[in-house]
Amino acid sequence: MLLRNRTGHLTLRQLQIFEAVARLGSVTRAAQALHLTQPAVSIQLKALTEAVGRPLTEPVGRGLRLTQAGRDLHETCRELAAAWSRFEARLDDEAALRRGLLRVSVVTTAKYFLPRALGQFVQLHPGIEVELEILNRDGVLARLRDRLDDLHIMSAPPADWAVEARPFLDNPLVVIAPRAFQAPRQRLELRHLAGERFLLREPGSGTRMAVDEQLARERVSLARRMVVGSNEAIKQAVAGGLGLAIVSRHALSEADLPELRILPVRGFPIRRAWYVVHWGEGGLSAPARAFREFLAEFAAAHRGAAGFGGGANR
Ligand code: PGA
Repeated sequence: MLLRNRTGHLTLRQLQIFEAVARLGSVTRAAQALHLTQPAVSIQLKALTEAVGRPLTEPVGRGLRLTQAGRDLHETCRELAAAWSRFEARLDDEAALRRGLLRVSVVTTAKYFLPRALGQFVQLHPGIEVELEILNRDGVLARLRDRLDDLHIMSAPPADWAVEARPFLDNPLVVIAPRAFQAPRQRLELRHLAGERFLLREPGSGTRMAVDEQLARERVSLARRMVVGSNEAIKQAVAGGLGLAIVSRHALSEADLPELRILPVRGFPIRRAWYVVHWGEGGLSAPARAFREFLAEFAAAHRGAAGFGGGANR
């Protein structure tokens, strides 16, 4: 590393050599301590003196002593060493998760479990600060593209970006209806519901993307569509009788049970998974690596607990 100053540049190695000369009071002893030859130390000392532009040492008897500039530089060397030690201590703290920053962006539908996971993680590591962004899939993709966060949580990672994407939890999508909804027939298919009004998430949402793909796969076109930009509003609207919707089971809680039901539609649930996504492995900070591992444990502990349980939804 080069440190620029007014008259040229100097290197950390020169400072290290000067520090030894200043501390030991002699070029010979500094050379011995650093396993260098005496001329090598003298050359570096001369180059450093030129870079500083002022004499750093002066002869006294058979030895040398520091000039005022030399004493000031010696003090600066000590401060640099202390700053470096603090930096190393911070690295150690971050590696041990005693401090650090974790930036996560998650798609809106992941807000039903991800903040809870973050909360538990921070309880384990209170020194870690968290920044959480909640956006739809397009919003999270934009942050991923701009490398604004350490980790990104979404269901459909971009296939053509060189990112690492690790699935950690199922994310099934189900058809919901008001509790009182009478299905037109026993063996229900999506096309049988095509005349109902469907509440759809906005374009750019991952849920919407999955729904559009399913409609295309089944060659079904919905006659009456209404775009609603939030899972919560969609649930309320369905409960209020406005129409049907396709949502993640994670968006459904026990509290929704009395007002909603999941329809047993062929081809459903649409099977998807939550992924934790990031750019290359090497750049991941210690808190980000730890949270990625924690997510796998969290998912294992909560598998089956999210959303409606068992047959209670029929
Ligand atoms: P969304 O994403 O919240 O943007 O709909 C959810 C998902 O990708 O499953």
